[in-house]
Amino acid sequence: VGVRLVRRPEGRATEDCFELVERPVPQPGPGEVLVRNIYLSIDPYLRGRMDGAFALGEVVPVRVVGEVVASRHPRWHPGDLVWGFLGWERWSIVPAGDELWPVDSGLGPISHFVSVLGMPGRTAWVGMVELGRPGPGDTVVVSAAAGAVGSVAGQLARLAGARVVGSAGTADKVAHCVERLGYHTAFDHRRSASSTGGLAAALQEHCPAGIDVYFDNVGGPLLEAVLPQLNPFARIPVCGMISGYERTDDPGVRGLHNVLAKRATITGFSIYDHMSGFAEWQRRMATLLADGRITYHEEIWEGIESVPAAFLGMLAGDNLGKRLVRVNPDPTT
Ligand SMILES: NC(=O)c1ccc[n+]([C@@H]2O[C@H](COP(=O)([O-])OP(=O)(O)OC[C@H]3O[C@@H](n4cnc5c(N)ncnc54)[C@H](OP(=O)(O)O)[C@@H]3O)[C@@H](O)[C@H]2O)c1
Repeated sequence: VGVRLVRRPEGRATEDCFELVERPVPQPGPGEVLVRNIYLSIDPYLRGRMDGAFALGEVVPVRVVGEVVASRHPRWHPGDLVWGFLGWERWSIVPAGDELWPVDSGLGPISHFVSVLGMPGRTAWVGMVELGRPGPGDTVVVSAAAGAVGSVAGQLARLAGARVVGSAGTADKVAHCVERLGYHTAFDHRRSASSTGGLAAALQEHCPAGIDVYFDNVGGPLLEAVLPQLNPFARIPVCGMISGYERTDDPGVRGLHNVLAKRATITGFSIYDHMSGFAEWQRRMATLLADGRITYHEEIWEGIESVPAAFLGMLAGDNLGKRLVRVNPDPTT
């Protein structure tokens, strides 16, 4: 059983863009591996790919943690835990065995390999530690601060000694940022946007000493509100621009002259350019988790049929931390 894309959205994606498809469990041919998928990833970037990159009629390709159940490839054996780019489906055939990577259950829950020990965690690390480069005395703002990437980015800035300010979309998320993730302060961007002074006033209140690093997950109005409040030599790692993913127009960004005046750096990045040293980084991150210096929240939904609602809800902001869907039992729990 899988979820395939059957219609391209115009603006907001809807449930009827997807269709549940049932097929018999496939058997591996020469060189192939059959994986019983366990955790499917739910990611914002899929929304952009629905506009063209993903083929209509095909199961949506995403990162998955699963277990090898049959193999005609010498590297993989039944019982091996793996992660890879498989799909929103319960069983995947992997054509070339080298598209899979091992999951070391000794490093943490196996779901972590598509969350904090996988792409979202690595993204936070690259964006914050390598591009944002926060230090003591810096004020760091993180948007989508309670989400899969943002929740790690904020904690990494705290560990670097910075003062960390979160922007998140509900009162519960704001509380989670401060009480669980150790942000120094946080604000509700939806509430601030509609109150007197808007986002600019919220930033002034929470960042009285200006902004040295803005880890941008959302783009749009918050980015515009940040620009006039940058300190000299500020850094803006541009991780995502989710506020625009479902728009059909491009409203542009006002206030870019501040980048010149403040000699600021805006750096877009894609995690796929930063995969070398991945296994070593996973061990470092696993240590931070085991020591309690980083905490991580996963939201696990059940059943393949819940995938479209889990995805559309995440785009609308109803997730806390990393959202995953479990489609087969986890043998390690
Ligand atoms: N550059 C890369 O290689 C890379 C890799 C992974 C992810 N990303 C990007 O990183 C960002 C976060 O991804 P994630 O997986 O961690 O997702 P996430 O933050 O767990 O979930 C998405 C969050 O975006 C926020 N959001 C949705 N619509 C918004 C809007 N109009 N304005 C402001 N915020 C909005 C919501 O949080 P609130 O309720 O707090 O608004 C929602 O919970 C995304 O932009 C994604 O595309 C980039």
